[in-house]
Amino acid sequence: MNDDNRSGRNDTYTLTDNRHGQQVELPVAAGTDGYQVIDIRGLYDRTGLLTYDPGFTSTCSCESDISFIDGKQGILRYRGYDVEDLVARADYMDVCYLLLFGDLPNAEHKQIFRKEITYHTMLHEQIYYFFRGFRRDSHPMAVLCGVVGALSAFYHDALDITSPAHRTLASYRLIAKMPTIAAAAYRFSIGHPPVYPDNSLTFGENVLHMMFSEPTEDYHIDPAMTRALERFLIVHADHEQGTSTSTVRMTGSSGANPFACIAAGVASLWGPAHGGANEAGMVMLDQIGSKDRIPEFLARAKDPNDPFRLMGFGHRVYQSIDPRSRIMRDTCHELLEELGVHDDPYLDLALELERRALEDEYFAEKKLYPNMNFYSGIILRAMGFPRSMFTALFAVARTVGWVAHWNEMIEDPTRKISRPRQLYTGESKRPVKPVQERI
Ligand code: CMC
Repeated sequence: MNDDNRSGRNDTYTLTDNRHGQQVELPVAAGTDGYQVIDIRGLYDRTGLLTYDPGFTSTCSCESDISFIDGKQGILRYRGYDVEDLVARADYMDVCYLLLFGDLPNAEHKQIFRKEITYHTMLHEQIYYFFRGFRRDSHPMAVLCGVVGALSAFYHDALDITSPAHRTLASYRLIAKMPTIAAAAYRFSIGHPPVYPDNSLTFGENVLHMMFSEPTEDYHIDPAMTRALERFLIVHADHEQGTSTSTVRMTGSSGANPFACIAAGVASLWGPAHGGANEAGMVMLDQIGSKDRIPEFLARAKDPNDPFRLMGFGHRVYQSIDPRSRIMRDTCHELLEELGVHDDPYLDLALELERRALEDEYFAEKKLYPNMNFYSGIILRAMGFPRSMFTALFAVARTVGWVAHWNEMIEDPTRKISRPRQLYTGESKRPVKPVQERI
């Protein structure tokens, strides 16, 4: 097959098949913003050919109107609003409503929505038995995968995915219970009792309260920490078809229940190439240890024979600064100042590492810039979160994005089970030999 030649008009694309001297016209579709796409759905029927794109580097898997990324310009929008604008003028509850329902809530809708979410913050008391069953040193993400999946064993009244009421109930429960589960996972890991949610608090305040308060003492929620956490939650809330979101959609395409789908999303997020990069980034800063060792680690990151990569650097879609990383870096500076930390060794090292990497030809040529995980770990650390909780907090924030995409997928009238094909490279047909004839 030849290189493709665009037809004069923008609405079709012509493929030339040299094998049969045949031309195939395919429709070109355009969204409101961003790329045009070649609609290849009829390709197999018309040519007997499939397309090959491991890792989906050139493939859109669905239509979506939830979030938009312009990777060249470093733009991220939720439902048309720039993420910077949302961070400046909205809170996480606004963003949850926006992602679920398409626009920001007015004051009345916001109050009702907040009440609906907070109503579901508690866990069924029996769920706490699960935590006791895990090894005490379990990673909170391991606990989160298990407990979130287990929610489907408790909330049978919300499992009919064809019912909008069930889907809304399941969505609210997931958003509301995720912080309670994540915090309980941490509390069990340190041998402290779980802290029940306090519904008079905001979403972010509740996270801090359930993580850090003790039954024996008053806990003062620092407004600087709440502000930083709100920003963290907003920038992590959605990111179009990221790996975990695609996993949730793919899992849900079979009709699996929402709790199972979100558990699949949590599992996918855990990987260091995705949400696990915030924890891995801190581990890397520890490994580097001091500024004078930066050249050694930059050399390793550039060495094709060394698996080491700069964690928190690079992104499939962004070929310029990830707008979330800018927000996280500014938040980092502000939070440390407000907490009276004038000299944070992690921030110092990260800033120097960023500066040197951005000056380096290798990173410039490959368009590798810091992503949000580069700075978010430093923020969470300054707030007192152990690094094992970093990805769990990402999962808390992203749950709303996952459920918004899951709902969108279920409601899509063109929905089909996600079932990719493969380029088979195994043995061709061969007979089974009797055991005594096998070598
Ligand atoms: N350090 C060093 N080299 C890198 C890095 C890095 N962090 N990221 C990419 N490269 C190189 C890579 O070696 C490859 O080089 P070559 O073309 O010579 O083989 C080239 O850049 C392209 O990399 P790729 O792996 O083919 O790109 P990708 O789009 O498949 O992967 C990525 C994107 C995020 C997985 C990758 O950049 C990475 O592993 N980064 C570090 C982990 C990380 O920070 N992940 C968080 C992503 S943001 C959170 C989210 O939204 O999920």
